[in-house]
Amino acid sequence: MEFTAPLIRLLLYSGAALAIGRGMLAVLAREASGASADPWAVRVSLWLAALALVMAPVALLLVQQQALELTMAEVPGLLRDTTWGRGWMPLAVTCVLSAILLPLPRTRARTRASSWALLLVALGVAAAMGGLGHAAADDQWPLASRVFDTLHVVGVGAWIGGLLLMLLASAGTSAPTAGAWGAFSRMASVMAPVVLLSGVGSTWRRVGGSGPMAILASDYGKLLLLKIVLALAVTAMGFTQRRRIAAGQPPSRTVVLREVVLAAVVLAATAWMTGTEPPGE
Ligand code: HEM
Repeated sequence: MEFTAPLIRLLLYSGAALAIGRGMLAVLAREASGASADPWAVRVSLWLAALALVMAPVALLLVQQQALELTMAEVPGLLRDTTWGRGWMPLAVTCVLSAILLPLPRTRARTRASSWALLLVALGVAAAMGGLGHAAADDQWPLASRVFDTLHVVGVGAWIGGLLLMLLASAGTSAPTAGAWGAFSRMASVMAPVVLLSGVGSTWRRVGGSGPMAILASDYGKLLLLKIVLALAVTAMGFTQRRRIAAGQPPSRTVVLREVVLAAVVLAATAWMTGTEPPGE
């Protein structure tokens, strides 16, 4: 049980990141003008992300039901009458809609409208995620907390989810062109600062009222510190590749692979961190 909730959150974060990344790349690529079919590695990852987006909200609900020792008959009341339940509903709806749109094959017949539809429902997942976590419990600055959280998840999805999809696409026979890497790099150059700044904003809301010793004495603070160090390493690696891409070269596969692996560790640390109490609460 101790591992169950963080694993479910990791499933949710991964599914959401891939849905947002796919939506952003699809819209950027102007798919209506024609695109080759996705390589198998991309197709498999999209199906897995769709599965994660269906499983995660159901699993979160079951964990909550067990934690509160509710019977199945009491679950409708949990969804109707509690803040948690009212936060869960939009998350479940947007996750299921994203899961339906995510694995649709990329063909000429697929319109720009469906790419935009995926992006919009995936952004809905990002906005809904804050409804279940610490951001939803911020009584002092509720709107700021939710905005930081939404921007953070959108940035993470576009940057890290998009990077993973570009890496998987490079394994196929029709690897991304220099133009596609250029478009991704320009998008990531906006999204990485969004992630860092919104992360600073969320850090202020979660630990801003505690001193450094109290922060570092808590599990929350230790995981946050680890996460920040790793996130800065991912950013630095991305920065080195940005110059290569600007010069018309594809990025180094080894560096991109390392970036994606480190980002996965950041997601795992976050999944753990969001289940612990920030200092002073
Ligand atoms: C590769 C970089 C990063 C990734 C992949 C990442 C990922 C995430 C994810 C998925 C969440 C959960 C959002 C939610 O549950 O609604 C989150 C929350 C958070 N992140 Fe990040 N993040 C990154 C960088 C950063 C940085 C640089 C900071 C600090 C400067 C930061 C601080 C936070 C904080 C404070 C939260 C709120 C956790 C809570 O509500 O208790 N993150 N991050």
